Amino acid sequence: MIRLAPSILAADFANLASEIAAATRGGADQIHVDVMDGHFVPNITIGVPVVKSLRKATKLPLDVHLMITDPDRYIEPFIEAGANMVSVHVEVLPHLHRTITQIKKLGAKAGVVLNPSTPVASIGEIAADVDFVLVMSVNPGFGGQVFIPHSATKIAGVRALLDRAGNRAPIEVDGGIDLTTVETVVKAGAEWLVAGQAIFGAANAEEAARTLKSRAEAAAAR
Ligand code: DX5
Ligand code: ZN
Repeated sequence: MIRLAPSILAADFANLASEIAAATRGGADQIHVDVMDGHFVPNITIGVPVVKSLRKATKLPLDVHLMITDPDRYIEPFIEAGANMVSVHVEVLPHLHRTITQIKKLGAKAGVVLNPSTPVASIGEIAADVDFVLVMSVNPGFGGQVFIPHSATKIAGVRALLDRAGNRAPIEVDGGIDLTTVETVVKAGAEWLVAGQAIFGAANAEEAARTLKSRAEAAAAR
């Protein structure tokens, strides 16, 4: 099922509540929160206190994407602050199974994230255990980047891997999703769609969210 996950990275940080309200009126299903530490990626964004405030500002699930070198240290504080989904990068986790188990034990949905250069096979052994897989369609670190075309093949590869493992877990896609790329990723098998610039960079975030979601739903129905 299609779910729209507006990324607040592209929103006005001084007006997050009203930006989220607009995206929600436009059909947002969950709020994507990009946490960056200036080490794993070359940018610094937000942390636990902001998630705690967001929790009071919206009823939608908070989808927290950890782009940090040591996610194990921060999983519990983020879930306590109100994260409903937590996704972690396979590139920084030698004990991925333990991390996934911990996220679930703390009551959140556990996602694994693959950078564009990370092979699908890297999650082969834990494909049965994940609640969702996030395929990066740009190199993480910044909003407003251009979609990497190979990502569509990658999404189809992850879908096939999950299906072989008997896991119907959804695939989330993140980076460069807009009206020109959304149909391609949905046809490849993506169901959760992250979009920052395409929603909060538009003149009217509500309208942009509505249009993007209806385009995705139409592609899924075909
Ligand atoms: C990139 C982040 C994304 C980003 C997407 O590192 O993980 O969630 O906000 O932004 P757009 O949709 O503008 O490419
Ligand atoms: Zn993200």
